[in-house]
Amino acid sequence: MKSPAVPNTLRVSCRADDFRTAGSANELGDLLAKADARGDPTTVIGQGSNVVLRARLPGLVVQPRIRGLVFERLDERRWRLVAGAGETWQEAVRASLGRGIGGLENLTLIPGSVGAAPVQNIGAYGRELAQVLESVTVVDRERHRLATLSANECAFRYRDSRFKDDGAQRYVIVYVSLVLGVLCANASYPDIRRELGSMGAAAGHGSVAEAVARVRRRKLPDPRRIGNVGSFFKNPRLTAAQLDALRGLVDVDAYVDGDRFKVPAARLVDRAGWKGARQGAVQVWPRQPLVLVNHGGASGREVLAMAQCVRDDVAAKYGVQLELEPAVKGVD
Ligand code: EPU
Repeated sequence: MKSPAVPNTLRVSCRADDFRTAGSANELGDLLAKADARGDPTTVIGQGSNVVLRARLPGLVVQPRIRGLVFERLDERRWRLVAGAGETWQEAVRASLGRGIGGLENLTLIPGSVGAAPVQNIGAYGRELAQVLESVTVVDRERHRLATLSANECAFRYRDSRFKDDGAQRYVIVYVSLVLGVLCANASYPDIRRELGSMGAAAGHGSVAEAVARVRRRKLPDPRRIGNVGSFFKNPRLTAAQLDALRGLVDVDAYVDGDRFKVPAARLVDRAGWKGARQGAVQVWPRQPLVLVNHGGASGREVLAMAQCVRDDVAAKYGVQLELEPAVKGVD
């Protein structure tokens, strides 16, 4: 029997030795416990929208399909949303805004599942998940039971969390609990402010969601139509000295981020001349050069090879090491 294909929005071909879905936290816990007891490698995958898969995933590959979007009123303003890991992120956004509950509008149209959202602390247009997340419920594979981690315990950073480092093998997210209705609509990003202007709309939760959707549709390739995983590189966080050195080479914006300065990787990739460049079926997206697309038939290895060419060139020209944003999984 041919081994099953692993779903992924980059649309590269990847086969799993054993692909399973889990409709409940218990089912998921059992599958993982059995694989762990056998000593099999395991991979948990959501909708595959932030991974680059190599040709084969050995051992067990499990996709949580835990459903549910449950709203609970906390007081006059605040609502708790408990969402199952297997729900589509955009459904959580739509369900909350549809009830007139604000908070997720800037995170409109981010591809992927609810369970994947905390792993990379999804963020866009001035908001990130960490700002609304209360806690996550996880399968704790060390203690073989469900556990709850507070937002603090998730150690969220820019596109990063505990689920990418010391918790990567230990915890599998089954529910995410958000507190919504607190934050004001945020139209601070120039792209969003401009879009609201052209819509003739004031900044409210619904209008910001609409503006974000318009900007994203214009700049980013729709993964339902063309293979991609959104931003392929993180925006580098530089020290003041590194920023000074870079500014001697290229004119670049910088945003204060803690003790560092975040600069747009898109600018460096663009200035290095990669916008629209193509290697086989892989292309640097002309309208947002942080995104690599697969026009059809590229392998994970080919996509990674092109990313490496971009990284090497940016490092040579500007002395900045770009980090990959999606996780790389599997073997060739
Ligand atoms: N730029 C160029 N050339 C271009 C496009 C952009 O030089 O062709 C420069 C411009 O200076 C522009 C800057 O890049 O002002 C920033 O571009 P943009 O506002 O589109 O955002 P980004 O920094 O490239 C980040 C996230 C996106 C998120 C947007 C909006 C990362 C790695 N990416 O991109 O997230 O949607 O901000 O907040 O942080 C994703 O993670 O998959 C993703 C799409």
